Amino acid sequence: MDNKKIVLSGIRPTGQLHLGNYLGALSNFVKMQNEGNYDSYYFIADLHALTTNPDPKELHTNVRHILAEYLAAGLDPEKSTIFVQSDVPEVSEMYLLLNMHVGIGELMRTAAFKDKARKALGIASPTQGDDDEDVAKEIIGASTNKRVNAGLLTYPTLMAVDILIQRADFVPVGKDQEQHLELTRRFARRFNSFYKTEYFKEPQNFNFGSAPVKVPGLDGSGKMGKSEGNCIYLVDDEKTIRKKVMRAVTDGGPTEPNQPMAEPVQNLFTILKLVGTPDKVQFFTEAYNNCSIRYGDLKKEIAEDIVAMTTPIRERILDIENDSTYLHRVLEMGAQRARARAGKTLADVREIMGITKF
Ligand code: TRP
Repeated sequence: MDNKKIVLSGIRPTGQLHLGNYLGALSNFVKMQNEGNYDSYYFIADLHALTTNPDPKELHTNVRHILAEYLAAGLDPEKSTIFVQSDVPEVSEMYLLLNMHVGIGELMRTAAFKDKARKALGIASPTQGDDDEDVAKEIIGASTNKRVNAGLLTYPTLMAVDILIQRADFVPVGKDQEQHLELTRRFARRFNSFYKTEYFKEPQNFNFGSAPVKVPGLDGSGKMGKSEGNCIYLVDDEKTIRKKVMRAVTDGGPTEPNQPMAEPVQNLFTILKLVGTPDKVQFFTEAYNNCSIRYGDLKKEIAEDIVAMTTPIRERILDIENDSTYLHRVLEMGAQRARARAGKTLADVREIMGITKF
């Protein structure tokens, strides 16, 4: 066994992956895998998906989608450990153990939890500041039949276990997951200090040497997400991609030289920079600055660049998704490796906590 640092990350199977997931996460997973400097673990967080109570068939289909997308994008089961979270039952046991050292209050103060709890209870987000009194009162009051499930509350415990059970050094995640990673470090420190051990190390985020890539949406503001008209999926065909890009929001066009760009236009340039070549970026930037730009041409360029980038991936996704034998083999192999490492950690943790045989 060599002593490479461990990289681990996961994606929740809640739908198909879009260009934002690919450029922001998946393409970097592949890069790290191929650089060969790390021992990488990439998984599908199906237990985390259960926190929002998905339809069982849909959940299963979504796991298949993400797995096929991982493989189509270049994750290689010979080089990385690719697995499904629920195939590693050690995770569930350690989740129970770690929960004994996690405070309800700190979980309730997590931004992602407050957000999801508000949605579950039908409370509007605070317009300013970060008032969490309303959420806490509603949850405890339970005056209606609405409820916030306990799994949603303990989501960060489960995520910390994913990371700690594999003893990961680096966890490439976006900004929205930084708070969860911070909690993971806190839980690791707390465990170490309670049991007077240095068993867990503190995992760090990983930025690929540059700022995290944020892919804007096509609807004028914010990042690419799952909402209609804002998002291009890796499985979208060429016609769909062209149609979506051509409908992207712009403005009336620059009226004077070197005018600052409005957000929707800036977003299109950001996408062009991610998918196109530097000379095209320069060409359209100059055209914008001297007011000769035609947004139609800019969009055509972006659409063709996206098509060139995603077509080979899409074709592979469709092939792989139908190959159940292959998917099964990949996951058997992944589960075996992930369980070997997790089993060792769990045995140590049980012992540290005093659960030992007579
Ligand atoms: N919470 C992450 C997300 O929604 C998914 C996730 C679950 C994860 N467990 C993880 C990411 C462990 C990194 C490491 O994006």
